[in-house]
Amino acid sequence: MDSIIVRGGSELHGEIPIAGAKNACLTLMPATLLSDEPLTLTNAPRLSDIRTMTELLQSLGAEVTSLQSGQVLAMSSHDLNNHTADYDIVRKMRASILVLGPMLARDGHAVVSLPGGCAIGARPVDLHLRALEALGAELELKDGYVHAKAPGGLKGGTFEFPLVSVGATENALMAATLAKGTTVLKNAAREPEIVDLARCLQKMGAQIEGEGSGTITIQGVDRLHGATHPVVTDRIELGTYMLAPAIAGGSVECLGGRMELVAAFAEKLDAAGVSVEETDRGLKVTRRNGRVDAVDVVTEPFPGFPTDLQAQMMALMCTAAGTSVLEEKIFENRFMHAPELMRMGAQIDVHGGTATVTGVERLKGAPVMATDLRASVSLILAGLAAEGETVVSRVYHLDRGYERVEEKLGACGAHIERVKET
Ligand code: UD1
Repeated sequence: MDSIIVRGGSELHGEIPIAGAKNACLTLMPATLLSDEPLTLTNAPRLSDIRTMTELLQSLGAEVTSLQSGQVLAMSSHDLNNHTADYDIVRKMRASILVLGPMLARDGHAVVSLPGGCAIGARPVDLHLRALEALGAELELKDGYVHAKAPGGLKGGTFEFPLVSVGATENALMAATLAKGTTVLKNAAREPEIVDLARCLQKMGAQIEGEGSGTITIQGVDRLHGATHPVVTDRIELGTYMLAPAIAGGSVECLGGRMELVAAFAEKLDAAGVSVEETDRGLKVTRRNGRVDAVDVVTEPFPGFPTDLQAQMMALMCTAAGTSVLEEKIFENRFMHAPELMRMGAQIDVHGGTATVTGVERLKGAPVMATDLRASVSLILAGLAAEGETVVSRVYHLDRGYERVEEKLGACGAHIERVKET
């Protein structure tokens, strides 16, 4: 397993290109299952999660061709010959459940393995299933698989999500595009990835209104056609690299970054004393002198502060002047980076869903272990600010969501290298 070694203490100066969003791409790819015409995605990120989704779609009979070193994905679901998403693939990545709605909507049947638990909590899929039931799906859980049927096709319906779920909104939205009649999704997720999915589906001929608000209305159509769509910028990668100069000092321009993708997060950076400036190429983040101020954070569905930036923000707060309180409201058990940061000298107290961080003057490099995707990058960020060497092991988590981290940070002056293990 590869490790990443960071030698802290250098300020960062330069620019970092931000890739297309992993989470948007993972829902845009299954949208190909809705049509027998080709769907092409541009600005796709080059990540292992994307390869896993490719493998899953191919196992169903879809063609997925990766062009321009993976930045273009040309897909066609002309000949779907298998409607079972196997446990062996689904267990690697929860987003696999997103093939359920599209397959069911198009062909009236689908079998998808239940994803099981993951490192950041139980993460059930009950809302995905309940939303599909509201569209007339008949579901049976057997041997760890969801067996779904809609013999006469799905029918439009109204479903109010009891809590905001990104994935369940995506599954229901895709399914509703081919359901007969009108579907109304209430308390829907408002994330930019949902808006991006709706834009792509609209290009394919879907009738959707209200994306980006809490109520999405879909008028079902008989069939969807092919389209080409650029994947929206990755707001989590953007936020992560915005934190790099905030933690290490210096100034970095994140190319392709847009304020509306990270407004709540940028507000917190500003409150911490870090400058965020909109340029004609992206967002420029600068920290000049001294320590940042402590700020409190509560994670919430979009447009609130994203849970996927909580670990990275905690890394920044570890060296802030003062005490900050970080409250995790989306996932239980999402503080596994805290004990690793404490190995680097951070002072953190975790009680249930709340972490209290008392900033220290300087972190110290240490061997640490990545426990999940965002936790792993938070340790790299902490390493940039630490004295000495930080060795982050188990970086396969990192490769699920960040392409070329060493190159991107290295180009701005960070001392960072990957050690490959065979
Ligand atoms: C997506 C993102 C993930 C991000 C999360 C929240 C992808 C591939 N992943 O995950 O990076 O951290 O949104 O912004 O896009 N829940 C249920 N039942 C369900 C579904 C969810 O109880 O059927 C709960 C979850 O356990 C969690 C909350 O709802 O507590 C929100 O989860 P959800 O928005 O569904 O997250 P994902 O779509 O899995």
